[in-house]
Parts: sequence; structure tokens; C-alpha cells
Amino acid sequence: MWSFPDRGNWATHSGEYRGNWSPYVPRNLILKYSQQGDWILDQFVGSGTTLVEAKLLNRNAIGVDINQRAISISEKNLNFQVDSHSKIFLKNGSASDLSFMKDEKIDFICTHPPYANIIRYSEGIEKDISLLDVNDFLEEMKNVARESYRVLKKTKKCAVMIGDIRRHGNVVPLGFKMMQCFIESGFSLKEIIIKEQHNCRSTNKWKSISKSFLLLAHEYIFVFEKK
Ligand SMILES: C[S@@+](CC[C@H](N)C(=O)[O-])C[C@H]1O[C@@H](n2cnc3c(N)ncnc32)[C@H](O)[C@@H]1O
Repeated sequence: MWSFPDRGNWATHSGEYRGNWSPYVPRNLILKYSQQGDWILDQFVGSGTTLVEAKLLNRNAIGVDINQRAISISEKNLNFQVDSHSKIFLKNGSASDLSFMKDEKIDFICTHPPYANIIRYSEGIEKDISLLDVNDFLEEMKNVARESYRVLKKTKKCAVMIGDIRRHGNVVPLGFKMMQCFIESGFSLKEIIIKEQHNCRSTNKWKSISKSFLLLAHEYIFVFEKK
């Protein structure tokens, strides 16, 4: 179980980008599952938290996002000086089609997709999976899992963080449903890390309407391996 009550604000990190992850998450994953000089992929790069950590930790990295705004924010966040030999590339595109990348190029995938449509990241960008409800979202995640498997080197790891959601008062186990997409694409499951959720902007809203159910207060980090 991981818990980072203080979200971390070193380098250019801040909590400004909606739904971004604490830099402690990619930092710990990168340190555990990659080496200096490795190539890391975050195909839902958002504000670039993973890439900032890759740069600080001397790893090379590729970030992909469907939204050009996210790419611009990442560029800005990566604009700092540090003694590092990292090569960093950003691409505006979809995680479900990484055809610009050859097979088995990546040493570690470290990523954080939307949780279906609980935060909508755009007004209508085609292939933005944050606009899809659960079933369509999971269909698209099958393509994401297939592409992740293709670009990852054998024996290497793929870490994905996601949370569950509520619909009509019931829990939708989105995390486990997404996990199944990765297993069906050929990955084996090495770890399930429970991450305690802190500083969630919608907690107050849920508190005021959640008389009859408990708050969801954790996310999952699934660590998969390509055999
Ligand atoms: C949870 S956020 C990632 C936040 C990131 N970990 C950070 O710290 O800033 C999910 C991102 O996925 C992007 N996204 C949605 N659909 C996508 C797709 N098909 N391919 C790539 N990125 C996509 C959204 O634009 C959003 O930036």
C-alpha cells in the first residue's frame, strides 16, 4: 500500500493539471522498474509528471497525449535545467495507435489513463477516451493494452494507475475491468499496489451526497510484465 499525503512539489511539479498524479508515484515506479538510460513511455502524459521524473532520474522518455494542450503544458513543465542526459520526445496522438513506434522499443511503461469519463479532458477531441462511458472506454483500453504489449521489450514492466467509479450509487470496479484488458492482451500481473487517495478535488462534493455509501479513497497501480 502506498500513501503520499504531501503530493510533492519539487522541480516544476504542481497539482494544477486536473487529475494529475503525485510525482511520488512515477518516481517510485521508475526507480523500481527501470535503469538509467532506459526508454520510458507514458502514453497518457497529461501535464508531463512522468517525463519530469524521467528527466530528473536520467531516463529517456516518450510522452503521448491526444490533447495538444497537454503536450504544450508538458513542454513547459519540462523546461528546467538539470544535470541529465535524458532524451525526451512528446507526441500529440492516441495511446490506442502507437504506429509511429517500432515493436519492442520500450523498457518501462508508466502511465495513468482517464478513469472513463469522470474528468472530461476535452470538449470533443476524437479518440479522447475521457469522453467515453465505461463500456466504450474499456473497448478502447483493449487497443491501448495491445499497443502497450507490442512496443514493450520482453521481460519488461508496464505500470498503470486507475481508480474505480460510482454510477447510480453503485461501485463500478473499473480498475479490475481495465486490469483484465491487459491480462487478455498477454501481460501477466506482477503486483497490485493500493494507493491511498489524498487531495481529491471532488471529495467535498461526494461527502455532501454520500449519506448511504462510503467514499472511494484509493486507486490501483497494476504492474504487468511482458513475458
Ligand atoms: C489522468 S490524465 C494524466 C495525468 C498525468 N499523469 C499527469 O500527471 O499530468 C489522462 C490524460 O489522458 C489523455 N487522453 C485521453 N484520451 C487519450 C488517448 N486516446 N490517447 C492519449 N491520451 C489520451 C487526456 O488528455 C489526459 O491528459
